[in-house]
Amino acid sequence: MWVRNAWYVAAWTHELGAGQVVARSIINEPLALYRTQDGTPVVFEDRCCHRFAPLSMGRVEQDDLRCMYHGLKFAPDGRCVEIPGQKLIPHSACVRRFPALERGSWLWVWMGEPAQADPALVPPSIALDDPGYCLKAGQLDYAADYQLIDDNLLDLSHLSYAHEKTLGLGAPQWADERPRIIGLERGVRVQRWLQNQVRGYLRNGTFDMWSTYDFLVPGIFLLRTAWYPVGTAERLQLKPPADPPLFLRCDEQAVTPTTARTSRYFYATGARSNDITPPQVDKMFAVVEAAFREDKAIIEAQQLVLDRDPQRRMLPTSFDAGPTQFRRILEGLVAREMAPAPPVAAQAE
Ligand code: FES
Ligand SMILES: [Fe+2]
Repeated sequence: MWVRNAWYVAAWTHELGAGQVVARSIINEPLALYRTQDGTPVVFEDRCCHRFAPLSMGRVEQDDLRCMYHGLKFAPDGRCVEIPGQKLIPHSACVRRFPALERGSWLWVWMGEPAQADPALVPPSIALDDPGYCLKAGQLDYAADYQLIDDNLLDLSHLSYAHEKTLGLGAPQWADERPRIIGLERGVRVQRWLQNQVRGYLRNGTFDMWSTYDFLVPGIFLLRTAWYPVGTAERLQLKPPADPPLFLRCDEQAVTPTTARTSRYFYATGARSNDITPPQVDKMFAVVEAAFREDKAIIEAQQLVLDRDPQRRMLPTSFDAGPTQFRRILEGLVAREMAPAPPVAAQAE
């Protein structure tokens, strides 16, 4: 199940160089990505309209993309502008173009109705070159349905077990205390205090940590972890803090379904530039990548178990509130997309 009318992360912007054509797949749609001369990203269906050769095997020529089978050339709007050896170019000679834009170091593609591609719906992630932050980025391919990865990010109680030696080290509270979940228009906000957390690998000491993230359609995870002196959570009676934190950690992640059973996971981790040095970010990143290997191992194994008997019902616990709410949002959006268009009102005589 996937929403079409959503911005999906296709790539880190640095993955698409000038003159390059990159093949990607999003919600089972093969795509060919390239840039025009001014750097504008163009995303086509990865299929030439002539005899269906992949356009990702094509060549960039100024602003256009030429299919390197028989040479048809396509302008950035998808119209065929040249057929070698033929003067007449039929109207039907075109390829599908998907709306695309770059923001926050991600290249986003709108997979649905182009007229609904509203740039205001792009989630607000931090760019890797933002001078206010020091971040490091990576990506990982999964042999699993993207919804299992979404579920994982919507229920961080797994940190205490799946990541007991990495991200959850010394933090059993992840599994002991339920977060507050706030509904958003296209997602959920998940917040909690973790008190008396011992932190050794960045700053020695014990802190109260305020963890808050927005999880937005289709699978965008924007986490901020703010560290405060011990006693802050109690003083605020577990309400959200307004004071500037001692340290602010940032995690930006995007889950993109590539096919029904494969996904790509994009991630960046770091902190405010004033809080951290690049070697410390490297250290943090190593822990994060070790944790993501743990997630991948358990989620891909979970997918195999699920596929053996897809009819079996899962047993929900109180920690499933986040995944359940988010799946309902996705189901609602998918149902709206599938609904037949309302009949056109008869004109008054
Ligand atoms: S398949 Fe593309 S030009 Fe023939
Ligand atoms: Fe995890």
